[in-house]
Amino acid sequence: MNYFNIAIDGPAGAGKSTIAKKIAKKLGFIYVDTGAMYRALALYFLRNHIQANDRESIEKACQNVDVIIEYKDGEQLVLLNGENVNGLIRTEEVGNMASASSVHKTVRLKLVELQQKLAKSANVVMDGREIGTFVLPNADLKIYMTASSKERARRRWAELKEKGIESDINEIEKDIIERDHRDMTREFAPLKQAEDAVLLDTSHMSIDEVVNTVIDLYNKKISN
Ligand code: DC
Repeated sequence: MNYFNIAIDGPAGAGKSTIAKKIAKKLGFIYVDTGAMYRALALYFLRNHIQANDRESIEKACQNVDVIIEYKDGEQLVLLNGENVNGLIRTEEVGNMASASSVHKTVRLKLVELQQKLAKSANVVMDGREIGTFVLPNADLKIYMTASSKERARRRWAELKEKGIESDINEIEKDIIERDHRDMTREFAPLKQAEDAVLLDTSHMSIDEVVNTVIDLYNKKISN
């Protein structure tokens, strides 16, 4: 059986996961959050005091670490050597380590295999950085979602404020620009728009507008 695969790529904070989750729910697809997998490995490196630029230790660690994805009530759980780490991987520290450690080919290949297997076994909405260009080059629908760095910083700042955490919006924007640069310039499978991806700049769009746009694109694809 052939499953329908939707690939959503774009920089940090563009709204990919919020949108992908909603689309998956509407269409009854599985949402695959690939960033969470890189974050789980990053947590392992941080816990074991492995530096992102220490390639040898990173490669060795990849042999000892097991990342598994499970679904419970529609929610993706990431298991790191059997431990559910969902609640531990959303910090800036883990996000930055995920960006820095994911430049290594060994790290990427380990997770790409798992991602491709998931896409072969179900209808999926998968978000990440290189899903349309590298992980699922034959995806049925590809979206490249972006927003200005100012708007992405503002959203992150508001999200933290909601949680009662005060932060400096300029610092957040600086971090975002740094992360974009690293993700876009890495040698192996960098972040870039696939030639056949639809570009969506969400800077001035509401969540519902973005969701409806993607659903319309999906409906057009299946009616062809
Ligand atoms: O989407 P996110 O913020 O959870 O991702 C964290 C980092 O993981 C991101 O800055 C780069 C890396 N990543 C990647 O290299 N490839 C992916 N498909 C997903 C994430």
